Amino acid sequence: MILVMFGPPGAGKGTQAQLIQKVLGLVQLSTGDMLRAAKNAGTAIGLKAKEAMESGQLVTDEIVVGIIADRISEDDCKNGFILDGFPRTVAQAEALDKMLTEKGLKLSHVIEMEVDDVVIVERVSGRFTCASCNEGYHDSFKPTKVEGTCDECGGTEFIRRPDDNAETVSSRLKAYHEQTAPLLPYYKEQGVLRTVDGMASIDEVSRQINEVLTV
Ligand code: AP5
Ligand code: MG
Repeated sequence: MILVMFGPPGAGKGTQAQLIQKVLGLVQLSTGDMLRAAKNAGTAIGLKAKEAMESGQLVTDEIVVGIIADRISEDDCKNGFILDGFPRTVAQAEALDKMLTEKGLKLSHVIEMEVDDVVIVERVSGRFTCASCNEGYHDSFKPTKVEGTCDECGGTEFIRRPDDNAETVSSRLKAYHEQTAPLLPYYKEQGVLRTVDGMASIDEVSRQINEVLTV
């Protein structure tokens, strides 16, 4: 199964991809996580991506398409994968279709999480992730069960993203509406678009996604 998690910043793409990964064993491929890792490692790609990420702009199609092309050719992707945050432009979607066709593969579902812009700032400003295993949390909506300890791995260090501030979030939202939302008719036309209510609770969104996946 090949899935695309689709939605604005803070919609819950990463949260739901992690849940699907645990249940179905599909690998989560987050271009945001991969770019942050490249930036932290100081690689050439990371340095090129840094400025765009910090200002809430999109990184170039060439960079992200290259990253995904390499990643989906790895062994752990052969039983399927979840694309989280890719594609984000029509050019990326066309490049993905071409890569999949060349491998004899096809997208199963594009899961759109519909969320109003007004809740986005609240979602991203409360977000933190485990520094060891990358499990995602939220101060109010998904706190750790034991304060200061990761539910998944017991880690005690957490990270907050530098682009999770109100100013950068508004640029990220603008980029979403101008460059990414135009992909919705593209996928509707292909018959793979499934829309769920991203405003609902994490558990309810997960239930709606499971319904899509079992149809
Ligand atoms: P990326 O890391 O993909 O950021 P994003 O799209 O802005 O999305 P987020 O990760 O902020 O949100 P999410 O939907 O994963 O939400 P989450 O599940 O964490 O990209 C970062 C940057 O990298 C981009 O700005 C760009 O520069 C670059 N980039 C990446 N991919 C690119 C590409 N393809 N092309 C070009 N550039 C690219 O949830 C958010 C919070 O809300 C969490 O705390 C969570 O616990 C909570 N939450 C989740 N669901 C719910 C719910 N239903 N109810 C209440 N709280 C919830
Ligand atoms: Mg994410």
